[in-house]
Amino acid sequence: MITIGATSRAKEDFAPELLAVALYRGETPQNLGDDAAGVVSGGDFGGKTGETALLYGQVGTAPRLLLVGLGERDLFTLEKLRRAAATVARRAKAIKLQNAAFSLPALPDTETREVARTVAEGAVLGLYRFDRHKTAADDHELETFWLVTGEDALEEATEGAELGAKVAEGTVLARDLANEPSNVATPEYLAERARTIAEKYGMEFDVLDRAGIEEEGLTGLATVGRSASNEPRFIVLEHRRGGDPAPVVLVGKAVTFDSGGISIKPSAGMEDMKFDMSGGAAVLGAMEAVGALDLPLNVVALVPATENLPGGDAFKPGDVLQMHSGKTVEIVTTDAEGRLILADALSYATRYEPSAVVDCATLTGACVVALGEHASGLVGNDEDLVAELQTAGEITGEKAWPLPLFEEYTEQIRGDTADIKNSGGRKGGALTAGAFLKEFAGYPWAHLDIAGTAHGKKGNAYRTKGATGVPARLLVEFLLGRSR
Ligand code: BES
Ligand code: MN
Ligand code: ZN
Repeated sequence: MITIGATSRAKEDFAPELLAVALYRGETPQNLGDDAAGVVSGGDFGGKTGETALLYGQVGTAPRLLLVGLGERDLFTLEKLRRAAATVARRAKAIKLQNAAFSLPALPDTETREVARTVAEGAVLGLYRFDRHKTAADDHELETFWLVTGEDALEEATEGAELGAKVAEGTVLARDLANEPSNVATPEYLAERARTIAEKYGMEFDVLDRAGIEEEGLTGLATVGRSASNEPRFIVLEHRRGGDPAPVVLVGKAVTFDSGGISIKPSAGMEDMKFDMSGGAAVLGAMEAVGALDLPLNVVALVPATENLPGGDAFKPGDVLQMHSGKTVEIVTTDAEGRLILADALSYATRYEPSAVVDCATLTGACVVALGEHASGLVGNDEDLVAELQTAGEITGEKAWPLPLFEEYTEQIRGDTADIKNSGGRKGGALTAGAFLKEFAGYPWAHLDIAGTAHGKKGNAYRTKGATGVPARLLVEFLLGRSR
């Protein structure tokens, strides 16, 4: 794991192997030597987002100077800085350096702590690789990443670096869990990883196996998991630190493989359904950060984990289930399994008398159609909670966008033989899924549909292809806001 710290150029031992300086588009570098001025005036480096120029022998004790673009000054966002930091960390690693330093830009409207946090996040996330199943992985590691600031801001920068690194490590855990194939990341495996978090940070931990799930009346989870030989688990983690007893509950869908069940999915692309536990992975990642930061807040994590497979014992279209809450559900399609296991977790959450419950789930293809891979869908029964989550998404770059839950969507899922049905058809699929969950939430609640954002084929400066870890950082930011 990389070490991130703060330093200043005035320090006697300041001698990084590389010093990176971020520049806006068209900006002339100041005090960085003639060559740096030359690459800009000569047009070799224009400061576009993601653009870089590497020079030698320019500034003081650092042999290498890396210019990195931030794009137009007027269009600046912290997300661009996060990406610039990631680009620098990746470049330093690619040329096999041991350390690199990043000069924190002066931002009039942002505290040094936030700037440092953002850069630290970018560096840690940019260096992420999932290569533990490769027999010939590149094992060079960048050991240290320095954030360079003025003497008077060192303390703030150090705090920000620590915060950013811990939040990013939570995302790293979320990515690792989600990237694991379903033959590794079984429900039992997720429970063991949750146990490890609990032991590390002194959290309460509980796990229900198949018998326990049935006994508790978690019918949705028991039914979806019935035909799988990797047994389902219901995972409970409790971080108790707050004076205010009403906890925030996080719920994460963890379908470790979604074949669709009897309503089987087409085989093309089905391998991506190993990512159908990304909600659970993000919740566990957020709990890792909650523990590392020791947030002064009561937080409960509920992760219903199961496979969804066809088989002689599988549930079938037309079946009727009586859920944990007592409501009855008619199965239209066994491929709408996520809402069944979430509904039980939501009604289980009632016992905590929570101040808020946030669930996240790779729930609908319809949400991917609506928002693509750039924003998660956001619905809820509480305007303030929805607004808080939207803001947390903006701050972290894990954008979430509000969608409506009009009564008509609830009418669309009214059941023929039971109270409700588990699909309202193709029209407004992300919204009828939200309306379904709403039936089980008797407290302030919001839902993040991360089907489009949890994994991707492309990646960016701080994302590899595969799992993104979304919305682990959003959730932590939301909790940080609640603990202030
Ligand atoms: N896990 C899927 C949703 C999904 C689809 C995630 C594509 C990521 C990419 C979920 O369980 C599902 O199958 N949803 C169905 C619901 C429908 C049958 C009502 C869907 O969206 O097609
Ligand atoms: Mn499904
Ligand atoms: Zn699913």
